[in-house]
Amino acid sequence: MKVKKMLQSERLKLRVLEEQDGSMIVVWRNQKEVIDQLFSYVGITAKQHFNWYEKYINDDTRLEFIIEIKDKKKPIGTIGLNNIDFKNQKAELGIMIGELTEQGKGYGEEAVRSLLQYAFDELNLQKIYLKTFCDNEPAVRLYKKVGFHQEGILRKEIFKNGKFKDVIIMSILKDEWKR
Ligand SMILES: CC(C)(COP(=O)(O)OP(=O)(O)OC[C@H]1O[C@@H](n2cnc3c(N)ncnc32)[C@H](O)[C@@H]1OP(=O)(O)O)[C@@H](O)C(=O)NCCC(=O)NCCS
Repeated sequence: MKVKKMLQSERLKLRVLEEQDGSMIVVWRNQKEVIDQLFSYVGITAKQHFNWYEKYINDDTRLEFIIEIKDKKKPIGTIGLNNIDFKNQKAELGIMIGELTEQGKGYGEEAVRSLLQYAFDELNLQKIYLKTFCDNEPAVRLYKKVGFHQEGILRKEIFKNGKFKDVIIMSILKDEWKR
């Protein structure tokens, strides 16, 4: 069972993902600009998303939110925690601003700050980590800006678009988190 949680920040609302969000997510996930930055090689079909969702609703290690602009009531992407591990008090963060015209406006940063606050203060996690391509400049800059540190580089980790790509692992600890 998923918590019925809603997070609010200045411009955004993060609401827990629902079944009817599926068609929108499929559109977002099939854009070349998004696919290029994810570790998957291709987009997803509606059927694949539905199968993923069926597993997701009973998976206590994942919590996905839809990012919505409050004023416009406009969904623009997803953010979530996966591999939630209460024993070791850590989880992995993932984010996608799927509405490409809404990228670069500070929404990604605001959503990450909102989720970190929830993860540290309410879920009482001690560490949030993530992996992204080293050459994903917007993502790496965003994560550094909110206080993530580099843990290491996985060299030539993923073969994509004809070349081997390095992956950076970053993390932020509860003690380092500045609201
Ligand atoms: C990475 C992503 C989440 C960033 O979200 P965003 O809303 O576009 O980013 P923001 O507007 O909040 O920017 C925050 C910081 O990121 C950096 N940034 C954002 N867009 C950038 C760009 N096009 N080029 C370089 N840096 C950029 C900047 O440092 C910015 O800080 P600044 O405003 O002080 O310059 C978004 O571009 C995205 O979803 N991309 C596709 C999927 C993806 O890459 N997900 C992450 C992989 S795990």
